[in-house]
Amino acid sequence: MPKKIIFIALILSLLLVSCKSLNQPEEPEIQKSVIPEKNSDETNEVILPEEHLQKFDSGKSVHNLNDFLFSLGYDIGTQELFDTLTTWAITDIQLQLTPLNATGIYDELTKKTLHSLKDDTATITVGKKLIRPSNPNKLPEVTENPYDLLALINKEHALPNDYIPNDLTVPNVPFPFSESDPKKQLRKIAAVALEELFKASDDDGLELFALSGYRSYERQKTIFNNNIARHGEEHANTYSARPGESEHQTGLVMDLTNQAVNFELVTEFGQTKEGIWLKNNAHNYGYIIRYPEDKVDITKYQYEPWHLRFVGVKLATELYKNEITLDEYYKKQL
Ligand code: DAL
Ligand code: ZN
Repeated sequence: MPKKIIFIALILSLLLVSCKSLNQPEEPEIQKSVIPEKNSDETNEVILPEEHLQKFDSGKSVHNLNDFLFSLGYDIGTQELFDTLTTWAITDIQLQLTPLNATGIYDELTKKTLHSLKDDTATITVGKKLIRPSNPNKLPEVTENPYDLLALINKEHALPNDYIPNDLTVPNVPFPFSESDPKKQLRKIAAVALEELFKASDDDGLELFALSGYRSYERQKTIFNNNIARHGEEHANTYSARPGESEHQTGLVMDLTNQAVNFELVTEFGQTKEGIWLKNNAHNYGYIIRYPEDKVDITKYQYEPWHLRFVGVKLATELYKNEITLDEYYKKQL
């Protein structure tokens, strides 16, 4: 073969090889495997918050809690706000695994319960005991979560007719009558707190009496109808709630009295030693004076220095310090 032809063939084959390599996809760069440093943001590890959390709390811990609830299948946001959906998920879990502690609050027992779900030593079914709030940004006329310890019950937001708390118990405090009566009862968490409140007031030399706690829907209906017969509906509703709208049905309220007012429920109670002490100290035991004298326009009920509602120490203290009612607190948050 002439040298010239060999030379041309060589050039052609070289050209062919270089064109081929141009068309070929680039060899992927070999990824160097980097082991990420252990950082909660970059791993899937679930971090359950250490601290007590409740509705309207916000921050990184709430975000972690929401993340965990989401991983269980709860269709909620993973944002930093403990909202109505977080409260729903927590309550639904509590109703399935610790029904006597169904409060919607992330407390010590709830933390343990969530750890058991994390470790697969317990299981739940999403929404089995409590339906998902239909509109999480708006409070419905009838609350969908009556177990919520912070539930707002007033003339706009009622309890379901058939709601009966599942953990009613009689607190060990003095009553001015000895017979047994359903109205001596409170939800367990409120009963324990009331006993502590009585102990502290007793230590301060005071003598309080409990008069009226839990009322069923039917009982409230009878009371309200009796009040209508006496004063007409409009006036009756300034001091007595329509059935379904009474906080007494939550099992989180106790009306208190003393000997100075003959064990009655009258506004003068607010000026007695016991009434003044309650106004200044009830929040330390998780209770609020629900219908204060200067908030009638907001609560739509007359002054009731005797009507103590349990919301837990954290919220009671916040309401006390800011001098606001539960109604105002909700308006601020929603
Ligand atoms: N006295 C309060 C408003 C009630 O009836 O629940
Ligand atoms: Zn009351």
